This record gives sequence, structure tokens and C-alpha cells, in this order.
Amino acid sequence: MANRYQFLIEVYQFSQDMKFLMFLLPLPISIKDRFNAEGRCVIPTSIPTKEVIIQKEIRTTIIGIGNCASSLVQGRFYYKDPDADIPGLITKNFGGYQAHHIQFVAAFDVDERKVGWDLSKAIFAKPNCTTIFQKDIPFLDCPSEMGYVIDSIPLHNDQYPESLRFKPKENKYSNKTQAKRAIVRGLQEKGVDVVVNYLPVGSEENALFYAECCLEAGCAFVNAIPVFVSKIYGDRFKRAGLPILGDDIKSQVGATIIHRVLTKLFEDRGQPIKRSYQLNVGGNTDFLNMLDRVRLRSKKISKTQSVLSQMNCGEFDPQNLCIGPSDYVPWLKDNKICFLRIEAEQFGGVPMNVEVRLSVEDSPNSAGVIMDAVRAAKVALDRGLSGPIIEASAYLFKSPVQQFEDTVAREMLRRFAEPLAQKSRVQAGGMR
Ligand SMILES: NC(=O)c1ccc[n+]([C@@H]2O[C@H](COP(=O)([O-])OP(=O)(O)OC[C@H]3O[C@@H](n4cnc5c(N)ncnc54)[C@H](O)[C@@H]3O)[C@@H](O)[C@H]2O)c1
Repeated sequence: MANRYQFLIEVYQFSQDMKFLMFLLPLPISIKDRFNAEGRCVIPTSIPTKEVIIQKEIRTTIIGIGNCASSLVQGRFYYKDPDADIPGLITKNFGGYQAHHIQFVAAFDVDERKVGWDLSKAIFAKPNCTTIFQKDIPFLDCPSEMGYVIDSIPLHNDQYPESLRFKPKENKYSNKTQAKRAIVRGLQEKGVDVVVNYLPVGSEENALFYAECCLEAGCAFVNAIPVFVSKIYGDRFKRAGLPILGDDIKSQVGATIIHRVLTKLFEDRGQPIKRSYQLNVGGNTDFLNMLDRVRLRSKKISKTQSVLSQMNCGEFDPQNLCIGPSDYVPWLKDNKICFLRIEAEQFGGVPMNVEVRLSVEDSPNSAGVIMDAVRAAKVALDRGLSGPIIEASAYLFKSPVQQFEDTVAREMLRRFAEPLAQKSRVQAGGMR
């Protein structure tokens, strides 16, 4: 008997497939008893014992292999040591998942320099221009497949040099229904858990199209872009029993969070803001796209609401808040510069102001936040939660369906991230 279990453990070391191992264990051990509360596969102690940690995974798909995707994939391999401390993550162990559990199993793009390439190579193709901090990415066996263009490519795209702009292929599918059927099949065949939407800003219809693919394929949806998918399709995800997180990723220390925190500080110190602006410039395709003011609409709303939500708006005229990119400077590449000014009145009506200049590489700034969002989406799937996941979205996104003060949102996320076993221990033990 002992030899038999020893053999099974050896087999496990060659197997990454949890189900395969479960079937190898003898039938009298119930499936429930084969896993502990943290999802680890445990060989019961009544038989020769050894705990085996199952290689859990979050089967993840990326839609839009641009700069943000590049930083996310690079970061996944930069921090390949499971014990590494990753700056910006809410916690190393998010509901039982660590960053290295994220596995990229499918990816979609439409640029001819990316489609057909393994994700490990596609992330470095033009026009991506973000910093390369991890050039060695193993072959991921994750081919970049052709997506479907509805409104994701801006009309002014062709006016710029190829090295700076998108180079979309012709649509491969003749209509939306055909495209959806193929993409849904692809997601199902790959057993995708979580889809991350990184489409270009202003892809209003395209974002909803991919969200519908997720609804049909049974995947969780993480919406990193400023299109209000959680608000528009939140109920549909609820009815489908699937989680959605969004909208519009809030970078780790970016313009939005600095503006929110300063706004809150002024409120808390009893010095209400009179006027403020936040002007951003950058040289990546996101800034190129935003030259089209129509595409920028949702982004402006998302960023403005995010700051306004921290104000007591009773006396504040929203006209006095101006937020948005102001120009595209190609040589800045993925470096974003933000100029922020707040004007207020002190005691006695005396005027004062504060100015901040932020310079930050745009895409790595949001990659850690997405690592939390992907893990939160998987935890929500595991726990059978559906619809907009407010506990996670409030901290991680600029436009969640419900806004909270950042310290409150952080605490909500921290609690949500506690593995269930730990939660029940805390509950049983009362106050911490
Ligand atoms: N950088 C940040 O920190 C940050 C913060 C908040 C929100 N965002 C948003 O995240 C999104 C992605 O940002 P990015 O810098 O990676 O953009 P990007 O322009 O570098 O990448 C977009 C990618 O989408 C691809 N694409 C275009 N149409 C497509 C389609 N129909 N199907 C599949 N792929 C398609 C493009 O070819 C490109 O590879 C943007 O909407 C941006 O506003 C970014």
C-alpha cells in the first residue's frame, strides 16, 4: 500500500492535472477529502502520508496584446519565484492564489505583427513601446489569435507611421455572429477562467462584443478599459452566474489615485477645492488614440467621476474640474507625464494652490493591479459569486458600480482576499 502511494506521489510530480491525480487516488477516499480548504490536495493521514500541493492555475486570456499586456506578462515571469514580494499586490496569497498561478492560455489581437505569434513574442512587437524589464519569457504555447474589429481601431490611425500605430489585419470573420461563435469555441476549448479586456480606449461596441463572448463561454471578465461594461452588462453577468470586475483599471500610483487622495485630504482638512485640473501627456498608442476626442469621452467621464466621488459636491461646480489627456508626444513612448493643480481657499478666504508633476511608465503601473484583479475574478468564480464584484472592483478600478473612499475599499479588498479557511478561523476567533 505504502509503495502504491509513493508511486502516486511520483506520478503527481509529472502531472499538472488535478483531475488526473484525483482519479488516481483510490475510490474510497471521497473527492471532498482529497482537498483541504485552501485547495491543496491532501492524501489522508490514515494512509502513508504526504501533502501534495496541486499546481493550481488561473487560465487567463488577454484581449489586446498592447503595452499593458506586455507589462503583465513580463511581470508574471519577472516574479516567477512564488515567495517573491511583488510591489503593489494587495497580498501574496489572494484567496489561495499567488501571482504565479496565472497561466496565459489564449490571447487575441488584430495587428498583423502580433497575430499568429506566441504571446511570449507578440508582447514585444511594434507598436508596443513600454519598458522591457523581463526579456526572457518562456514559450507559452499561447498563440495570438485573430480577434474581431468593430470600433477598436481609430479613424486617424492611418495618418501615423506604422511603427507608432496599429496595423490591423482584414477581419477574418464575415460577421459578428460568426466571429463570436469562433471566439466562444476558442475560450471553451482552452478552459479559460478569466478574460482580461485591454482593448484600445474608445472600443465601446468591441468591448461589449468580447463581454458577450465571455457570457456565452462561461468566463469571468476583467474590464481594464474605460468603457462601462460592468454597469451596462452587470445584470447579464449576474444572471449568467459569472463575475465581472471593472471598469477602467486604477494604476498603482498614477494620476487618478494621487488626485483622489489629495482631493480627500483637502476635504478632510476642511479646505474644499475650488478648481482643479489634471493634464496628461504620453507617447504610447493609448495617447495616440485619445487624440480623437470622441474616443476619449468615456475616459474623461471615468477619471472625472473617480475624483468627484471623493468630494462633497454640494458646493463644487464640476465645470471647475478638468481632467484628460492633452497631447500625444511620441518620443515619450510609454512614459506618461501628469500635471496636476488644485486651487482652494484657506481660512479667511485666502487663496492657495498645490501643483504636482508625476512622471511614470504607464503600463507597468497597472500590471500589478491587474494581477490582483485576475486573482479576484478567479476567487469570485470559485466562490460562486456573480455580477459586478464590488468588494474587489472598488479598490482596483476607477469606475466601479459603487465608489468608496480608498481606505475603505482597500479594507474590503483585503478581506475579500482572505482565503476561506483563514476567514472561518477569524470568524470563529472573533475580533482580530
Ligand atoms: N496604462 C494604464 O495604466 C492604463 C490604465 C487604465 C486603463 N488603461 C486602458 O487599458 C487599455 C489598454 O492599454 P494599452 O496601453 O495596453 O493599449 P495599446 O494601444 O498598447 O494596446 C491595445 C491592443 O489592442 C489591440 N486591438 C485593437 N483592436 C482589437 C480587437 N478588435 N481585438 C483584439 N485586439 C485588438 C491592438 O492591436 C493593441 O495590441 C486602454 O484602453 C487603456 O486606456 C490603461
